[in-house]
Amino acid sequence: MVQAVQFRGSPEGKVVQTSFNLPLIRPDEVLVRVTHSGVCGSDIHMITKPLVLGHEGVGIIEEVRSACSLFKVGDRVGWGPIGSTCGHCEQCMAGKDAYCPEARNYGAFDFDTQGSICSYAVRKEQWIFHIPDSIPSEDAAPLMCGGGTFAAKMGCDVVALSSSEDKRQESMALGASEFYATRGVSGYSTLGITKPIDRLLITSSAKFDLGIFYPILARNARILPLSVDSGEITAPYLPTLLYGHEIIGSCVCSRHPQNKMLDFVARHGIHSIVEKFPMTVQGVQAAMDRLAAGKMRYRGVISWDY
Ligand SMILES: NC(=O)c1ccc[n+]([C@@H]2O[C@H](COP(=O)([O-])OP(=O)(O)OC[C@H]3O[C@@H](n4cnc5c(N)ncnc54)[C@H](OP(=O)(O)O)[C@@H]3O)[C@@H](O)[C@H]2O)c1
Ligand SMILES: [Zn+2]
Ligand SMILES: [Zn+2]
Repeated sequence: MVQAVQFRGSPEGKVVQTSFNLPLIRPDEVLVRVTHSGVCGSDIHMITKPLVLGHEGVGIIEEVRSACSLFKVGDRVGWGPIGSTCGHCEQCMAGKDAYCPEARNYGAFDFDTQGSICSYAVRKEQWIFHIPDSIPSEDAAPLMCGGGTFAAKMGCDVVALSSSEDKRQESMALGASEFYATRGVSGYSTLGITKPIDRLLITSSAKFDLGIFYPILARNARILPLSVDSGEITAPYLPTLLYGHEIIGSCVCSRHPQNKMLDFVARHGIHSIVEKFPMTVQGVQAAMDRLAAGKMRYRGVISWDY
């Protein structure tokens, strides 16, 4: 039996360290010695639950059971917020398996075993990913959920909207072609954006009426809300249909695009910009506090190696 050191949330919103005997490993599961974990805005949403925190794990496989065929002991692997999917529904068969109605996701299932801020994790072989050799583990961890913004590397013109001027230089250095600070701006048509935006990715932890973006959108724009929040999405009805805008929810990468993304990162030598924290109560708490305060640049990574 493997005893894991785990870092969990608590009703007070403080990180606590626990020790837990992992369940016996099933035939379709592997045992991973965790080396790194990213922290993500979604962990802040979970901090008052008693679950093992983290869902951007990277580690080394130490044990593989009999029904596994894709991985072997010693492989370096990563995993994200999905623990398992059914494998036979329409979404699974169509390669949109992140939307499987039977998906067992971080924050909803398996509070004792889903997390990645811990020493050992048991994972189904189905939802772990090979990390290409050229991607360091601390770069790989943040790619397991939120990932990076590679739109510039993919050949897109990137317009960055940020609440303040703080990220202007880095955004431009990372490939944005335009940058606008939006705090206090009531009409976005005055921002001076040079070309209408045809894909709007909403990653801000603040919620907006989508209508504020309409003056800067192209016709038939796709609006992709990514941030997690409760409540309603609101948008002006008539302009949505007159301009043919599409509002498309997007949560977590399915397995096929996740593997493609890792190939893309390796091929283009993309690196994550990370802040490092040790895998201790103080380290995990410091990472959560910095993220909650909006100060993380740009992803926090926690490791037993720091
Ligand atoms: N759909 C998915 O698959 C997925 C994956 C990962 C995370 N998420 C969700 O995405 C959200 C963000 O997570 P994250 O890890 O990226 O967190 P994060 O690093 O804290 O980023 C959130 C950003 O929101 C902006 N922001 C914060 N307060 C704001 C305010 N009052 N007004 C305007 N903008 C504000 C800030 O950007 P500026 O400094 O540029 O203003 C901040 O950097 C969370 O809700 C998380 O649960 C979803
Ligand atoms: Zn399914
Ligand atoms: Zn996440």
